[in-house]
Amino acid sequence: MALRLDRFLAEAGVGSRSEVKKYIRAKQISVNGLLIVRPEAKINEQKDVVTYCGKRIFFTKYVYYLLHKPAGCVTATEDAIHKTVMDCMADVARPDLFPVGRLDRDTEGLLIITNDGELAHALLSPKKHVPKTYYAKIRGRVTEKEVLLFEAGIDIGEDTRTRPAKLKILKGGEISEIELTITEGKFHQVKRMFLAVGMQVLYLKRIAMGSLRLPDDLPPGAYRTLTKEELEGLRENRGQQREGQSQ
Ligand code: URA
Repeated sequence: MALRLDRFLAEAGVGSRSEVKKYIRAKQISVNGLLIVRPEAKINEQKDVVTYCGKRIFFTKYVYYLLHKPAGCVTATEDAIHKTVMDCMADVARPDLFPVGRLDRDTEGLLIITNDGELAHALLSPKKHVPKTYYAKIRGRVTEKEVLLFEAGIDIGEDTRTRPAKLKILKGGEISEIELTITEGKFHQVKRMFLAVGMQVLYLKRIAMGSLRLPDDLPPGAYRTLTKEELEGLRENRGQQREGQSQ
């Protein structure tokens, strides 16, 4: 496949599209040993040997990012009215990226952005029950009663009750702070579970998905690539769910 040199470099993670254009014009990029100074030059990413400052650059088919979704943007690739999570990823020149699952516009936290449809499907499949943990501030006094109700499953107006969910009370009071782990992804699930027990979610942030945790040092709106270990962990989550199914 023929690919523009600047796009190849950006997609391989060398820099943003504008940065790599500068590198090309600064004669820092060579293709098959020849210096190339035109960003629009076409290369074959499977065959051509591309180097940046003498280091070989490899094209990666699949990419995996962890975004700290900020409040105020929608989890979609396009939206006529609102900013989307993809606007946070504007530096990444890969048109095939999409978010894995969905967080509400006012929800913050961990969102995986990838172009790997198979992994996304495995993590989202309702049959796989990948755990997702949320931190929330709740209007109302959350007590052991709600812990037991959530463990037993809640009627949120669907055909079946929610699957057992683990509720941990971090701080009781008129505004409670909790962590909730659910193994499904029904529409507005956390908010609906609390509404069903007469309480309102005031603030919601996803802090974990499978083995992946939202890093403390990643501010809202920032993203980074998943580490090898994080990716392996997610793939294992998927594997464990498969094993779980066959039991
Ligand atoms: N549950 C919700 O209610 N909202 C989210 O964004 C995620 C889970």
